[in-house]
Amino acid sequence: MMGGDRGANGHAGGSRRTRPWPRALGRSVARRTLALAFAAPFGFAACTGLAGCGFSMISMIPLASAQHAPAASGAAPPAAPPAASSVASSADDPAGAPAVVPPRRFGIGRQADAVDIAGWDIDVRPDGHGLPHGRGSVKEGEAIYERRCAACHGEFGEGAGRWPALAGGSGTLAADRPVKTVGSFWPYASTLLDYIRRAQPFGAPQSLRDDEVYAVAAYLLFLNDLVDENFVLSRETLRNVRMPNAARFYDDDRESAERAFWNANPCMSGCKDSVTVIGRARALDATPPDGAPRAAD
Ligand code: HEC
Repeated sequence: MMGGDRGANGHAGGSRRTRPWPRALGRSVARRTLALAFAAPFGFAACTGLAGCGFSMISMIPLASAQHAPAASGAAPPAAPPAASSVASSADDPAGAPAVVPPRRFGIGRQADAVDIAGWDIDVRPDGHGLPHGRGSVKEGEAIYERRCAACHGEFGEGAGRWPALAGGSGTLAADRPVKTVGSFWPYASTLLDYIRRAQPFGAPQSLRDDEVYAVAAYLLFLNDLVDENFVLSRETLRNVRMPNAARFYDDDRESAERAFWNANPCMSGCKDSVTVIGRARALDATPPDGAPRAAD
């Protein structure tokens, strides 16, 4: 059943549906917040646009490295400035010739430490490896979803305006217009945790606590009719969630399935006795007639 059908069934009705932001406004706010999210790992206090961020990135890096450089991370101390190190003194060189020592480091940045790496190393695998501690119920998820997600994804995951749908679409994958959603397409529930935790809500990624991510993921599973309303999602229960489309994902088998096609000696000339033209672009109205105005004119 499509997520949109729930609304049409009178469960909610269009009137309660949250209005999407005006698109242009939404995009620019999202872009600005994204820039902020990008900036955060580098330790900027604030920046209001990509250009601003770029500027502060250049001016901040040497500062950060100076603060952290030698003792704090146990990294090798930065090399002396290249100008001083590139031609070493000949004092202890028996031959007396100046030794040219290429700078091995530029003296900026520092070795990533365990805390830095932990901030980036947040992937969750289909077998559950990497799942954070936490839990959240469908009911808790509903409240969070309505506040943080519904403006774009629709109250029932049907997608508001042109924002993506997250529910419904089951049975449409082979149709002319497949509706690919979490429920109809995604093979693993772990991806929900992984993706929401790293990238959503769009424009404010990584602003949800792990419990909130579990809750909102539980609610999305519920909107896709995959769990009931009393379900609580956690590291343990997530492993038991089976996604309907999982079996249709398989390892790339083109090497065997298309073996006949992969010919080591492909025919390069005279491959067919005769050639029959079965269609022409003009018949499809794909070729504008001579002298017709071009679209840009
Ligand atoms: C400002 C609008 C906006 C908000 C708010 C928002 N999203 Fe999204 N969401 C998007 C956009 C845009 C994409 C597609 C991003 C892409 O493809 O890079 C997306 C993609 C997704 C997807 C993947 C859909 C797919 O099938 O590929 C999931 C899951 C998702 N969002 C969940 C959430 C959740 C959960 C929340 C609330 C915590 C949320 N989103 C809030 C705009 C939004």
